[in-house]
Amino acid sequence: MTVTLTTIGILGAGQAGSTLARVAIAAGYDVVIANSRSPETLRALVDRLGPRARAASAADAAEAADFAVTAFPYRPGDRLPVEELAGKVVLDNNNYMPWRDGSYPEVDAGLKTIHELRQEQLPTSKVVKAFTHVQFHGRSPVRVPADLLPAVVRLARPAGAPDRTALVVSSDHPEAVRLVTRFYDDLGFDAVDNSPLSESWRSAPGTPMWNHHVDGQSREQLVQNLRRARRPVR
Ligand SMILES: NC(=O)c1ccc[n+]([C@@H]2O[C@H](COP(=O)([O-])OP(=O)(O)OC[C@H]3O[C@@H](n4cnc5c(N)ncnc54)[C@H](OP(=O)(O)O)[C@@H]3O)[C@@H](O)[C@H]2O)c1
Repeated sequence: MTVTLTTIGILGAGQAGSTLARVAIAAGYDVVIANSRSPETLRALVDRLGPRARAASAADAAEAADFAVTAFPYRPGDRLPVEELAGKVVLDNNNYMPWRDGSYPEVDAGLKTIHELRQEQLPTSKVVKAFTHVQFHGRSPVRVPADLLPAVVRLARPAGAPDRTALVVSSDHPEAVRLVTRFYDDLGFDAVDNSPLSESWRSAPGTPMWNHHVDGQSREQLVQNLRRARRPVR
């Protein structure tokens, strides 16, 4: 029997989480969204998102989720809903930005990726790097009116379109890669598998593929750009 996954628990309701909620709802998913405070603080957002969205605590969003998203920076001290996310696929869309998040020596030394650290934080979940190099905001500078749309909307194309772009996916769990590949497709993107998580440095900020995060890249270009990456060691 095929089980259709429909409810996404989105932990993080900022620019990334709220925009992902919008595009997921447009693609037919239900969304339960949380921030680090309380559901009441998200009333205006869920009103805008409409009846397929509701706000919850992070634990309740995790509990309700068929799969989940962590749309906030990695911090080692975070208390995440580990039990509620156990056994579930968790999309991690965080980018390691030392100027914003502080430095993590094992990442800087090239011993681990930031997504392996997230996997350690959620040891019973299936963590998968996704959506890290597509912008959830408009293009700057604006050239045409469509540039005002978030890139995740502006670049979306139906399957088979000649100008469809691709997004990267990395995980230690093949089931998570399959799920994200389907989800990307639903949202208008091809997928390139760059697993396992230990290889996900190839799509970190500053890498050749990363430099295309404004206007996207084809599947073939993305594969090439991942190959051209050199591991930054700070
Ligand atoms: N913005 C983009 O275009 C973009 C693109 C690709 C990747 N990303 C990545 O996406 C992540 C979020 O970026 P953003 O621009 O959306 O940041 P943001 O606007 O600052 O939003 C962060 C959100 O995460 C929530 N949050 C923080 N810790 C949480 C926790 N433990 N549980 C639940 N919610 C929590 C915050 O809630 P409170 O407001 O209550 O603190 C806030 O709603 C970053 O890691 C970024 O690197 C962003």
